[in-house]
Amino acid sequence: MSVKIKVENLYKRFDKREVLHDVSFEVKNREIFVIIGGSGSGKSTVIKHIIGLLKPTSGKVFIDSTDIATLRDRDLIDFRKKIGYLFQEGALFDSLRVWENVGFFYLENTRMPISEIRKLVTKKLALVGLKDVEDLYPSQLSGGMRKRVALARAISYNPEIVLYDEPTSGLDPVTSAMIDNLILKLRDEIGVTSIVVTHDLESAFSIADRIMYIHKGKVVAIGTPEEIKNSQDMFVRQFINRLPEGPITQEFFEELKMKGGR
Ligand SMILES: Nc1ncnc2c1ncn2[C@@H]1O[C@H](COP(=O)(O)OP(=O)(O)OP(=O)(O)O)[C@@H](O)[C@H]1O
Ligand SMILES: [Mg+2]
Repeated sequence: MSVKIKVENLYKRFDKREVLHDVSFEVKNREIFVIIGGSGSGKSTVIKHIIGLLKPTSGKVFIDSTDIATLRDRDLIDFRKKIGYLFQEGALFDSLRVWENVGFFYLENTRMPISEIRKLVTKKLALVGLKDVEDLYPSQLSGGMRKRVALARAISYNPEIVLYDEPTSGLDPVTSAMIDNLILKLRDEIGVTSIVVTHDLESAFSIADRIMYIHKGKVVAIGTPEEIKNSQDMFVRQFINRLPEGPITQEFFEELKMKGGR
């Protein structure tokens, strides 16, 4: 299978603080690549580089063999049309109704008649388990509904690549399963390539072709769900078994001590 996304020796510093350290991985065409790791480990930062919202301190990001850092602004905007991005916070436009949020790409980039856009929006909303919300504003929705509207917007223009930042956080188990199914369906029926950042381990293990575990901006393990489950790495084992004690917490308290916090 051909490589769709390639991240090569990516480093990111914000001021003096290093947030990503030598991150490298490849995502193959039609693959569902899941990123797991503790809060603050750099997961969102990684995917923001893939859509070009952040620029590497050093290292490269290739999509379809194009180094996205070399694109000029105009080309980057065009390039982004290949990519759907579900922001961790959803990032809906509060002053626009649901249908305008989901249909935003078409309103901005095409001359498609409004009635057609609305039809398309209703279809996309159905895919994420929503109906009769088209004319509401984001503030009139529950958190889980907002998340799904944002998801409908991310997939609205049939992108080749979808980056999902926590697609099931805050959703009930049935709706989460529905979203997992949607991610699988987009791969199987349309051939979408996906990167999914999640804290939902059940979802990670059920949808992933491969899983990457990152800890403090460093890649610790990459493998199939089976390989990650059987990993001998103590950090991975503590994380996936949800253990309160182990190297992750040990490291935390050691650092706290060094800073005189205890
Ligand atoms: N724009 C920014 N400026 C400065 N620091 C940032 C910025 N964005 C992220 N960081 C820092 O980078 C680190 C990684 O953040 P990131 O959002 O990638 O974590 P995450 O793994 O997505 O965490 P979570 O699971 O909580 O969403 C954090 O320490 C955060 O404070
Ligand atoms: Mg995040």
